[in-house]
Amino acid sequence: MKRTEWYKDCVFYQIWPRSFKDGNGDGLGDLEGVYEKLDYIKSLGCGGIWFSPVYPSPGADCGYDVSDYMSIADEFGGMDAFKKVLDGAHERGMKVIMDLVINHTSDEHEWFQKSRRRIDPYTDYYIWRKEKPNGKLPNNWDSQFEGKAWQYDEVRGEYYLHLFAVKQPDLNMDNPLVREEVVKIMHYWLDMGVDGFREDVITFISKPEDLPDDKLLPLFRGVFAYNHGPNIRRYLEQFRDEGWSDYDCVIIAEAPLTGPKKALEYLSDSKDKKRVFDMVIQLDCMTADCFYSDYLPLPFSLKKLKKAFTSWQTKLDRKGWNMLFLENHDHPRIISRYGSEKYREESGKMLCAAYMFQKGTPFVYQGQELGMVNMHFDGFDKFADVQAINAAPFLPESLRLKLLNRASRDSARTPVQWTSGENAGFSTAKPWFAVNGNYRYINAEHEETDPDSVLNFYRKAIKLRSELPAVKSGHYKECGAGSKNIYAYTMSSLHQKLLVVCSFTDKSVHFEPPAGYELYKGRLLLDNYHVRQAGGTGFDTLPYETRVYVYE
Ligand code: GLC
Ligand code: CA
Repeated sequence: MKRTEWYKDCVFYQIWPRSFKDGNGDGLGDLEGVYEKLDYIKSLGCGGIWFSPVYPSPGADCGYDVSDYMSIADEFGGMDAFKKVLDGAHERGMKVIMDLVINHTSDEHEWFQKSRRRIDPYTDYYIWRKEKPNGKLPNNWDSQFEGKAWQYDEVRGEYYLHLFAVKQPDLNMDNPLVREEVVKIMHYWLDMGVDGFREDVITFISKPEDLPDDKLLPLFRGVFAYNHGPNIRRYLEQFRDEGWSDYDCVIIAEAPLTGPKKALEYLSDSKDKKRVFDMVIQLDCMTADCFYSDYLPLPFSLKKLKKAFTSWQTKLDRKGWNMLFLENHDHPRIISRYGSEKYREESGKMLCAAYMFQKGTPFVYQGQELGMVNMHFDGFDKFADVQAINAAPFLPESLRLKLLNRASRDSARTPVQWTSGENAGFSTAKPWFAVNGNYRYINAEHEETDPDSVLNFYRKAIKLRSELPAVKSGHYKECGAGSKNIYAYTMSSLHQKLLVVCSFTDKSVHFEPPAGYELYKGRLLLDNYHVRQAGGTGFDTLPYETRVYVYE
């Protein structure tokens, strides 16, 4: 089958199913709830949905610990509910992609249960090691979720590697049988009609044979020892050739600590080397206010964000396709990070414009389009995320609550705020997790009726981007790179040019566009203050102002 690259004309909506919408009134989001909201997702202009895991799972990492790859969890409605959503999405012209979590499984997966008992063929499905003769752990790696990356298993009498939580043992991808399982999983979903995968921490799957110590500990927890490991290309080529290349699907790779140059090794096509990913989820745009992890916070730096945007836009241009995003289930809400809760609506719209007109495929994370902001938890016992819970004891006590509120993934995981009614219209029962109290004024029902809402801004921006050739085929150029407060870029194609100006401050700053982009020469397409078409060449910004001009 010819791969049509349909994803290049698509905006994706990411669903984190537990908190999206509860359809059966048990307090937990589910697929019936998703089905109810398919028209809403379509009304945003989205052409695809990415589901965070909906497989059976004990939930140690909210579904990223899979116990059965070829099934749908009962609490989400089981396979019937999934097929209904899949058909419903397809009827509406929307694609559906699944999260493929194959760096690790749940420890409750049958493979692990048999592996720890040395039952073949599962004996070598995981990375088992004895302790070193000196009584030390097999190596010095830390888990990404705190503590060491090794856990002793009484049943087998050996240690297993877990780069994430203790209940997420890493698969041994060097075992050809494990790779065959991955291929089978791919066929299973693609044959059902699923349109592709988002591959979870896929650049971690090939560990170096001797599992050497990492020298950069503790900052990166050992990741440089195994990220982009020795056989990664070979394994990914196998997944491509045997798994997905015969389907018109999209393959999106989560790639921590990966710059554009490295990403191009996976993304670009040449005569003798076809790409193994269609897009990469890079994390550079997530670190403008921290060092590597949200748990190592720094003041927000627009310069850092601009550098991330611009290097990915320019380095991938014509060689690879960008994945664009500002939010997902792994990071606090973007308005609270890069924008301003005080200027919530203004900055929410500005952040939308900041990425929506770049070249690539944009993703919108549930609630982002409503301008949802961080939760402010008032006690340690309120956090649910395994990363936050494990990190807590390691954080200085005086700062603990503040840091967790700043860094925890829980802020992105509160139920979506649909109405101003009970439980924010998310569920008729008590929701599994706290609802942000601001649902009384931040909710979809209200935003539907307000033409100036963040929601309707997203709709306008998504519609515009689909109509503008300068976005799809134009060239990106940043302007005023030196500014600490303004991010501006142009997109230019043969017959059309676009200027996007975004202020990241509440102060008034003068913006002067480059030659050819004088404001009076263009037409104002979108803005967040109802300004009038300007007569001059530049303008003085209002707080978190954004403007988009077209020149034809
Ligand atoms: C990815 C997921 C994250 C998960 C981790 C382990 O980073 O996005 O939610 O905790 O992998 O699977
Ligand atoms: Ca439910």
